[in-house]
This record gives sequence, structure tokens and C-alpha cells, in this order.
Amino acid sequence: MDQRLTLIKEMARPCRCGADIGTDHGYLICSLVEEGIAQRGIAADINAMPLDKARQEVIRRGLEERIQLVLTDGLTGIDPEEVDEVFIAGMGGDLMAQILDRWPGSRRSDKVFCLQPMSKGEHLRRFLFQEGFYVEEEKCCVAAGRPYSVMRVIYTGRREAHLPEEEYVGKIDFSTDEAEAYGKKVLAALEKRRKGLAQGTGDRMGELQETEALIQAVKRRMEQ
Ligand SMILES: C[S@@+](CC[C@H](N)C(=O)[O-])C[C@H]1O[C@@H](n2cnc3c(N)ncnc32)[C@H](O)[C@@H]1O
Repeated sequence: MDQRLTLIKEMARPCRCGADIGTDHGYLICSLVEEGIAQRGIAADINAMPLDKARQEVIRRGLEERIQLVLTDGLTGIDPEEVDEVFIAGMGGDLMAQILDRWPGSRRSDKVFCLQPMSKGEHLRRFLFQEGFYVEEEKCCVAAGRPYSVMRVIYTGRREAHLPEEEYVGKIDFSTDEAEAYGKKVLAALEKRRKGLAQGTGDRMGELQETEALIQAVKRRMEQ
């Protein structure tokens, strides 16, 4: 368990059954169950090889009675009645949004979602804001020198009014070194986009101005 998986575990709410989607090595769900944060778990992956790795980990830790292994795409086939907390980590934010969008259990206020996008965090946050999800908490960590953000989310059904920069940095409190590192990563990506737009051909003035405004807004957030 590195800092990233540890932060997800720390932000989790105690639950009856947690589902770890894209489980791969299975470390997260095994720790959640072993430490009693989840009484039982579902370890799901779309690919057989990673699921097999998770199976080995579950057996090694003697958790066969408490963790069910499921070969599936996203949350497909997972009964919403069975699961009360969903963990999705280490995937692109666009794929995570698709997985959430497709599951009948997502738009229910009795579920908790712990989400850690590897990339395209802005895509995931936009989806959450637009679809009536509420980010209860968002925190950052650094693992192997890379900054990450983790959010705990619930569904309220109320679309969240939000500022454009909140799609990039949510409501992160920039008082920690980890959050600052995350902010710098976001700024570097926006700066790269800005340069590409400035050098490119065609009429991309509107996009360029938007990106410049975003950069300034993210900087202001980080200084607050
Ligand atoms: C980079 S690993 C992340 C593993 C672990 N969740 C973590 O954060 O350390 C991504 C895993 O997601 C799985 N995956 C990719 N697309 C998926 C999908 N649509 N449904 C379920 N699992 C998926 C991959 O097979 C892989 O095991």
C-alpha cells in the first residue's frame, strides 16, 4: 500500500460491502476488509490476469470468505443492493465517469464513491458536477514522486454550480505540500495546452483565452 492507496483507505467510510473496480493487485480491497473498514468486499477487474493477481492476494491473506472476485467491465452485473461503497482508482477520469454513468446504483444517495483518477480529473469532476454528485472531501497525496487527488463523493441529485477551475482542482485545500504538488501538475498540463494553442494554426483564440483564464484562476486558488 503506497501513499495513494493509503489515502483512499483513510478517506473511506466504514461499510458493509465495498467494491474495488479495476482491483488489479487487490491490495486496496484486502486492506479495507482486513482492517474492518469494509466487512466484506468485491474485487472486480475487466481482465483475467489482474483478477488472478487479486485472487492470489486474497488467498495469501486468508480473505477468501470475505472477498468475492468478479470478472466484469466496470460495475456491470454488480447488484446495487449488495454494495454500499465503490472504490475506483488508477484509471482515467473519462473511463471512471463512464463506469459510474452506466451503473444503476450510481444515482442513489445511499452509496459512497471513493475515486482516484490517474488522468483527466477534470473530465470526472465535470461529470460529477453535472450529474448531481457532491464531492464531500478531496485530498491530495504524493506517491513515488507523483501527486494524486482522491475524492469521496455521494449522489444528491442536485447539479452543482461550479467555477471552471473547479473542474481542474475541485475544492482542494492548498495548505499542504501534497496539494501544492497536485496544483503544480495541473498548471503544467494547462500551460502545455496554452503553448500548443498559441503555436497552432486556425482560429483557437477562444480556447486560448479560456486556457489562460483557467491558469490564472488555478494560481489564485493555490495562493489563497
Ligand atoms: C492501473 S490499474 C489500477 C489498479 C488499482 N486500482 C490501483 O489503483 O492501484 C488499472 C486496472 O483497471 C482495470 N480496468 C481497466 N478498465 C476497466 C474496466 N472497464 N472495468 C474494470 N476494470 C478495468 C485494468 O485491468 C487494471 O487492472
